[in-house]
Amino acid sequence: MKAAVFHKPGDIRYDTMPDPRIEQATDVILKVTSTAICGSDLHILSGAVPQPEPMIMGHEFMGIVEEVGKEVKNLKKGDRVVVPFPIACGHCFFCTHGASPACENSNYKHYGPDGDLMDQKGAALFGYTDLYGGYAGGQAEYVRVPYADISPRIIPENMSDEQVLFLTDIFPTGWSAIDWAQLKGGEIVAIFGSGPVGLMAQKAAWANGAGRVIAIDPLNYRLEKAKAVNKVYTLNPHEVDVVEAIRAMTNGRGADVCVDAVGFEPERSFFDKVKATVNFEKGSIKVLEMCFKAVRRNGTVSIMGVYGSPYDNFPLHRLFDKGITLKMGQAPVLNYIDHLIELVKTEQVILDDIITHRLPLSQVSHGYKIFDEKEEDCVKVVLKPGE
Ligand SMILES: NC(=O)c1ccc[n+]([C@@H]2O[C@H](COP(=O)([O-])OP(=O)(O)OC[C@H]3O[C@@H](n4cnc5c(N)ncnc54)[C@H](O)[C@@H]3O)[C@@H](O)[C@H]2O)c1
Ligand SMILES: [Zn+2]
Ligand SMILES: [Zn+2]
Repeated sequence: MKAAVFHKPGDIRYDTMPDPRIEQATDVILKVTSTAICGSDLHILSGAVPQPEPMIMGHEFMGIVEEVGKEVKNLKKGDRVVVPFPIACGHCFFCTHGASPACENSNYKHYGPDGDLMDQKGAALFGYTDLYGGYAGGQAEYVRVPYADISPRIIPENMSDEQVLFLTDIFPTGWSAIDWAQLKGGEIVAIFGSGPVGLMAQKAAWANGAGRVIAIDPLNYRLEKAKAVNKVYTLNPHEVDVVEAIRAMTNGRGADVCVDAVGFEPERSFFDKVKATVNFEKGSIKVLEMCFKAVRRNGTVSIMGVYGSPYDNFPLHRLFDKGITLKMGQAPVLNYIDHLIELVKTEQVILDDIITHRLPLSQVSHGYKIFDEKEEDCVKVVLKPGE
């Protein structure tokens, strides 16, 4: 079959790979109908999240069940499903405590309570390196889905692929960021990063009763997109002092909630890069530092952007002094997906308005390039296998 294959940093291309087959009686094989490129994939492309062997990319995908393992009860051939990105067994301690991204079984080779940098990780993710389980991803014609009775959700025929594709990852991810802050209504929510995850967090903030939603991004075309689809207030850190601007809007206090939807590879200056090299750090925590400054005392910071390194001079003093609540991690998609499908079905939330590029899977290298380098006003790329 054909798939998007990571070979080495900077080299993800359309390639021929062996067809997946049923390995466990609880697997299904899915014929992928739509798949998307995620900001998390860019950390693999850059080499910041390392992968030693060629690997099929992709953790945002949906498709039609092609083949069913003997023990699968909830799915049959022909069912159309979306697949949450964490691979979860459904019955371990964490899976039964609402924490499927910490599943103890799906990534047994590298599972560890410490969550160490290189050799101990939590659950497995589709197409997300050997450390996260070494599973082939869904930017492919076919994909093996383990524990098929647990995560995949059947989608009604009258909903299009594009309407529901982002239920695999970015909408539940944006939703987690806001749910973790437990809005009561009327809060001021500042969302750093207006890429796909930031845009979804903006939608979730409105849906949870925010009073004002502020989008922050150095790229004006992404801020324009945010204004167009989510009617948010925008700030460009190249044009204004973001922390000052947020304080000015909040009687000097700061936002009730700040969301980091950027992660450890933000736009960086030469100085940022030198500092990281000297400190043996990967990337930078500059966006987090902005969140800690921009949030009010006793506010909440939700970190959805990925971090993959320890950092010197972490501003713990500011967190302590301000009494900030911090929550972060891979999104527990399973906790939210059924509710979120309902929101989409009843058109209370629209997800597909962020798509800017629809490409055949054969053009995947181009898709990665424009998404990574922010060319052609790219915000979100959807790939179609078999085209
Ligand atoms: N926690 C999870 O479960 C989860 C799920 C999906 C994605 N992610 C992570 O979320 C992050 C965002 O993903 P995405 O798909 O939106 O990626 P993206 O790269 O398209 O978006 C990042 C955005 O941040 C902006 N940015 C860069 N520097 C900035 C700064 N200093 N201040 C404000 N904005 C800045 C960029 O211009 C870009 O628009 C990534 O780190 C990704 O790995 C996490
Ligand atoms: Zn993703
Ligand atoms: Zn489990």
